Amino acid sequence: MQIAADRTPRHIAVIMDGNGRWARQRGLPRLAGHEAGSETVRCMMDCCRDAGVRYLTLYAFSTENWVRPQAEVEGLMALLGAFITRYEAELVERRVRLRVIGRREDLPVALQEALARVEAATAAFDRHLLVALSYSGRAELARAARQIAEDVRAGVLAPEAVDEEAVRARLYAPDVPDPDLLIRTSGEMRISNFLLWQCAYSEFYVSPVLWPDFREPDFRAALEAYAGRERRYGGVLDACARRV
Ligand code: IPE
Ligand code: IPE
Ligand code: MG
Repeated sequence: MQIAADRTPRHIAVIMDGNGRWARQRGLPRLAGHEAGSETVRCMMDCCRDAGVRYLTLYAFSTENWVRPQAEVEGLMALLGAFITRYEAELVERRVRLRVIGRREDLPVALQEALARVEAATAAFDRHLLVALSYSGRAELARAARQIAEDVRAGVLAPEAVDEEAVRARLYAPDVPDPDLLIRTSGEMRISNFLLWQCAYSEFYVSPVLWPDFREPDFRAALEAYAGRERRYGGVLDACARRV
């Protein structure tokens, strides 16, 4: 089924979940699941390019994930570093802009540097890959609130001027449109502190497939589900309005 451009999401956000269960099912260490999951990332980038999706945001590591066993956390950080190094040239070639959202200062310094290098090398491109690292929606909003308080104290922002736009302007990526479609894999039906502000009206799609197994047909299924949704934003459909 060909999906019309006006029924294609501009921005897809993904909670990549199920790596641990994928590994456990195979009697492998959890890290093997994360490794397998990094292949799906590449596949998703192809899918988004082919479908004409301009923004892709991937939830790769939450602020809560730091409590996992040290070996898993260290392994994940190493995997992220290897992924970035491996894909640097490819991102440039594909003309994709890498952007990190989250508490990047929490990450190992070498990883911070690698990320900053790739962000700089891809800064001019206008297809976007956002990676949420040490990310928490509540922390993002608390940070925005702190910046607002500082601006009010400095006299550059009046308390009466604090509105939704003032908050949005202080998010990690204020210029990025809100996700139209939020996909979570592995069947879990919760938001886990992801993009709390931005997902106010995102369409939610849960796939039972574990992230390392998620492939193009699963992506197509999500796009088709999205194409069939009616987004109302609190209003009523035209047809219903006429019947009042
Ligand atoms: C998602 O997979 C990846 C990260 C959170 C880093 P999980 O590691 O959460 O996999 P499950 O939920 O244990 O299967
Ligand atoms: C959410 O998955 C975070 C990422 C996918 C990076 P988790 O596996 O950490 O979420 P919970 O703990 O099941 O809610
Ligand atoms: Mg999980």
